[in-house]
Amino acid sequence: MTPDHPRIRIDVHGNGGTSEECLEEIRKALLSSPRRLPTKYLYDDQGSALFEHICQLPEYYQTRTERQILAKSADEIVAHTRARELVELGSGAATKTRLLLNAMARANQLHRYIPFDVSEGIVRRVAQELIQEYESLEVYGVVGDFLTHLEHIPPGGRRLVAFLGGTIGNLQPEEAQAFLRSVHQEMAPGDFFLLGVQLITDTGRLEAAYNDRAGVTAAFNQNILRVMRAVAGADFHPEQFAHVARYNARQHRIEMSLRSLRDQDVRLTELDLTIHFARGEEILTEISTKYNRHHVEALLQSAGFVPVAWHTDPEHLHGLALARKP
Ligand code: AVJ
Repeated sequence: MTPDHPRIRIDVHGNGGTSEECLEEIRKALLSSPRRLPTKYLYDDQGSALFEHICQLPEYYQTRTERQILAKSADEIVAHTRARELVELGSGAATKTRLLLNAMARANQLHRYIPFDVSEGIVRRVAQELIQEYESLEVYGVVGDFLTHLEHIPPGGRRLVAFLGGTIGNLQPEEAQAFLRSVHQEMAPGDFFLLGVQLITDTGRLEAAYNDRAGVTAAFNQNILRVMRAVAGADFHPEQFAHVARYNARQHRIEMSLRSLRDQDVRLTELDLTIHFARGEEILTEISTKYNRHHVEALLQSAGFVPVAWHTDPEHLHGLALARKP
């Protein structure tokens, strides 16, 4: 809770950083085969800033495509839902959010915005910005992990819950299923869910989006090793790990990893663990799954939602599925 402003409230959950559970999760991921790191650690304040930069890169078409779809469809989506509150999971910098908030304001339906994000810095910044931009808007920010802290969303109704950007693609198939079920469970009957997904397209285009020429995605990926220094006392040297991002066509997803450039030992004091990395060995840091409309609607239905509308761009690079909780 913060008394920054009478129209802002921010609740912070599980942001202690060094909790036992977080450390165990890191240990398990690093010791699994192939080695992994939990994706959420890409999105500390520094990582979130790098991701915002990625969204402006010429190769990364996803963000601007979704913005284009929202610009065209936001009024229709808002009219369909009659929502008074917007809940946004993984809200980040909330740039595309403004398109939905504007449409709600135009329809005289805008009362409250509830951003939910793992990065406290970004939630605070967005809350400050939005209360300036929208007269009488209330912002109730929730800082937490959307896989474990969804129950901290304040109760309500007549809501639109949005999960944009294709972030669902970061989850393993079983996790995505479980996540959608828990979103459904947190919603009231009659609430709507807007899910943004990246669509399957040609491999060259997909791989270019994760291997930008300016090297921003590489810096974003390597930042997770700096986060591990803070969270787990790890003496990773980011420059000794190379950024790798390839498309796995069988599982229709980009797999982003860090490849050890030489044989090296890394000590993680908080875990009382030393890991040997062979030269060429990789740590998987993020998957980014691509879908098609049929796949997305089946996923929504199996979580209990009824798909009600589908919005896409002329090239079918990105999709927005609107669904209702009956
Ligand atoms: C924020 C998860 C949608 O998967 O495209 C961008 C993250 N990672 N470049 C994505 C990301 C590397 C992005 N999402």
